[in-house]
Amino acid sequence: MKTLTIRQPDDWHLHLRDGAVLQAVAPWSAAHFSRAIIMPNLVPPVVTSADAAAYRERILGALPEGSGFTPLMTLYLTEASQADDIESGFRNGLVTAVKLYPAGATTNSQSGVRDVEAVYPVLERMAKIGMPLCVHGEVTDPEIDIFDREAVFIERVLAPLRRRIPELRIVMEHVTTKDGVDFVRGAGENIGATITTHHLIINRNAILAGGIRPHYYCLPVAKREKHRLALREAAISGEGRFFLGTDSAPHVDPLKESACGCAGVFNAPNTMACLAHVFEEENALDRLEAFTSLNGPAFYRLPPNEKRIRLVRSDEPVEYQRKIRAGQDEITVFDPMFPIHWKDEDDAS
Ligand code: NCD
Ligand code: ZN
Repeated sequence: MKTLTIRQPDDWHLHLRDGAVLQAVAPWSAAHFSRAIIMPNLVPPVVTSADAAAYRERILGALPEGSGFTPLMTLYLTEASQADDIESGFRNGLVTAVKLYPAGATTNSQSGVRDVEAVYPVLERMAKIGMPLCVHGEVTDPEIDIFDREAVFIERVLAPLRRRIPELRIVMEHVTTKDGVDFVRGAGENIGATITTHHLIINRNAILAGGIRPHYYCLPVAKREKHRLALREAAISGEGRFFLGTDSAPHVDPLKESACGCAGVFNAPNTMACLAHVFEEENALDRLEAFTSLNGPAFYRLPPNEKRIRLVRSDEPVEYQRKIRAGQDEITVFDPMFPIHWKDEDDAS
């Protein structure tokens, strides 16, 4: 048996949804994480501070008694977003960041941004007040191959945005390519990137080889092996600009197992166990805490959590729940395709 004690992790990119799914999934994040950046892509999206306040209440209502979990709210950027509303939400502590979805890039992104030029005034205000922008980094141009959409986004949107507003603090969300890792490394102090659990574990073969496996389909879609290796190298590097955002994105099974299935991997229940496995495999357990518990708070200018958790490795594989129930439906939990030996528990000490 092997144990590792680290500060309690946070999740810097999480979809909690609403209604029955929110009720079903929120306790799983709260069981492992202290805080999470809550994605605003509901239908309709969380656009105003008032929307965020109401959604925050619904999340708090879905948490187990005394969970202590803090949802850090984000606003969904539209071409009609109001800089004054965003600034007041940020200044009064209700809103932590703004999320930029290119229109049509992913689940519920229809009201996202078509022309980034149109939101420059809002982004300039955010730069002025030090408010981070979380970016879904994919172009939606149908001419661009889906596996190239991140790299083309960097060239067409992100690099010009950096040049135009270098003071803006940006998180490149769920980076999935070596191009993304290289860009973030070369782009200065005020840009960070989240990396998901599953992109450290799967490449595109998981989705397509030997049968089509919808539970591995997410956006940005997993790329070829060299990209997975670049993500692993970044995650275990200990560098402050890379931190965990699980992108746990539940959809009920009928919506995944369909002729046109939804994008999203639900990994909230076993993320820490999977990450301990990955970092152990890379001989980097001593850098797991930086990735899950230190780098994110530092980027968001928040203190790291005081509480500690203990990760325990047993020789025998540990069982975990393969599906969870949400109302009438089930949601499939991410299967890393290796036996899980790690478990995280509260550390009483
Ligand atoms: C997310 C979702 O379902 O909301 N899906 C996903 O595959 N990651 C949206 C997103 O983060 O792109
Ligand atoms: Zn997401």
